[in-house]
Amino acid sequence: MNQDQWTAVDRYITGLLVPPDEALDGALRDSVAAGLPPIAVSPTQGKLLHLLARMQGARLILEIGTLGGYSTIWLARALPAGGRLVTLEVDPRHAETARANLARAGLAEVVELRLGPALETLPELIAEKRGLFDLIFIDADKGAIPEYFARALELSRRGTMIIVDNVVRNGAVADPANTDPAVLGVRRFHQLLAAERRVSATTIQTVGSKGYDGFTLALAIADLWPSSGAEAVRRGVRLGESQVMLAIKIKNDLLKTLRKAFGLVAAAAAAQLLLATQNGCAPNQSSAAEPMPKIPDVPQDWGRSEQHESSAGH
Ligand code: SAH
Ligand code: DHB
Ligand code: MG
Repeated sequence: MNQDQWTAVDRYITGLLVPPDEALDGALRDSVAAGLPPIAVSPTQGKLLHLLARMQGARLILEIGTLGGYSTIWLARALPAGGRLVTLEVDPRHAETARANLARAGLAEVVELRLGPALETLPELIAEKRGLFDLIFIDADKGAIPEYFARALELSRRGTMIIVDNVVRNGAVADPANTDPAVLGVRRFHQLLAAERRVSATTIQTVGSKGYDGFTLALAIADLWPSSGAEAVRRGVRLGESQVMLAIKIKNDLLKTLRKAFGLVAAAAAAQLLLATQNGCAPNQSSAAEPMPKIPDVPQDWGRSEQHESSAGH
């Protein structure tokens, strides 16, 4: 097994399952022309991201690390009408190239590109109560993956899928002697993941045209998310579908406490009142619970239309 074979097989699969596409092919072409590093996800990986986003039914996606917007296009094309993608990029030249590529793809109105170090733009998103995101793709500088993951969790709801690229690094992830900052980042990330009870995760090794690497899939799991009713309120989570059980639990806890103090009837009334106040204070920000504003339909021969499936030929 060697790189030539991995590349040949990727080419074979791409030739059959990833048809030529002017927006995607043009994004790679113009990224190379602009001197961007050739490190976008491969076509087969891009399509995997697209399929995962569709399986997830994602309406709101966050990407950390835009480059020329190649993975951005794959992900944004999985969104239904009215869906949105926020992508974070530190390099102005990368951002400029990405904006042009996204505009050509008809996604200028769907994608919001934020320029700046992700360690600054992520707290902005959190402060603005953006989200909660349905899918988060982490693909920026590898040394900071643990920090990005921690902030991604703050922008997640239960059921959010977090995907992290480049976590195997030619096998170096399992070499404790390696001191490359990127490798230290992916090792620290796995340690964090092992201790994180709010997600269920695995890492898959991959080979292909980009060599030997891998990605992590982490799912924010039910029951442990959010960790408390108080946190749900603090995070601005509205009482939507998955929060109803939580509300009942908060109410029951509250009832127990108040009953000790005031007796049954007074306690029930007080709990109702308190919950109503809390709900009124909680801004309604959950993408899953509230439809995103409609945008004018852009011409699409992809996404959920049947046209896409038939033009893709499979
Ligand atoms: N997701 C892209 C590839 C991203 S490459 C694709 O598959 O098509 C990694 C990107 O992360 C680069 O464009 C790099 O400039 C950006 N990046 C590096 N450090 C960053 C930081 N601190 N904040 C935001 N973006 C960063
Ligand atoms: C690098 C970054 C990536 O996102 C990737 O997929 C491959 C390599 C890099 O910075 O070298
Ligand atoms: Mg990558």
